[in-house]
Amino acid sequence: MNIPKHIGIIVDGNGRWATKRGKKRSDGHLAGAKNLNNLCQHIFNKGIYVLSLYIFSTENFKRSKEEVNYLMELFVKMFKKDFKLFENQDIKIVFSGRREPLRQDLLNIIDEITYKTKDNKQGIINFCLNYGSHFEIIDACKKIVNSKIEANEITEAIFKKNLYNDLPDLDLIIRTGGELRLSNFMLWQAAYAEFYFTNTLFPDFQKEEFDLILSSYFNRDRRFGGVKNEKKIN
Ligand code: FPP
Repeated sequence: MNIPKHIGIIVDGNGRWATKRGKKRSDGHLAGAKNLNNLCQHIFNKGIYVLSLYIFSTENFKRSKEEVNYLMELFVKMFKKDFKLFENQDIKIVFSGRREPLRQDLLNIIDEITYKTKDNKQGIINFCLNYGSHFEIIDACKKIVNSKIEANEITEAIFKKNLYNDLPDLDLIIRTGGELRLSNFMLWQAAYAEFYFTNTLFPDFQKEEFDLILSSYFNRDRRFGGVKNEKKIN
């Protein structure tokens, strides 16, 4: 089977990782962020072209003010520190999600990274931050209506172009942390994705487990609604 072109990771379990160790939830997020860096390098070394990372959902704003503030600061800090690394490796960084109500310093670094990496060619990291799939679909509908396209002219390709980023469909979605759900992650792009759920909490999710998941993906029979090895009549 071909190397998956687009992998999505639903990052989950940072809080429980910390609680289990008697630490603050914020320590789990920090451990998760550190882990993410190594993992990204490994994933691109495997030849994957797009990596979508669900790091903050629109619903995550329901968390305590303290946790949300910590995460926003962590995002600013990590993006400032780490994006140079990806910039130098010719990786383009894009963001999916609504801008409101993100704080201005975060929006500034998001805009800077997006601009500075826009012509990079070796791979793409799509950070889903303040992201929700329902909003993405609604926002795409609004853009299409405002572009004055006639209803009968709307195609899948046009719809896709109006999503936050025009990315290939997801081939594989991995969720860490033991929950068996999508939590509003890239519903349009997930139409034919393979799923892999692991109990491992994200800060403990290592490249060896990623490699096992990739091997399991290679054994999946992806038919996209067709029938394997069936001879076409006519
Ligand atoms: C889910 O775990 C994780 C998040 C909501 C935050 C993820 C953020 C990072 C890994 C930091 C990434 C930073 C950068 C800059 C890329 P949870 O808190 O829902 O865990 P729980 O289910 O155990 O409570």
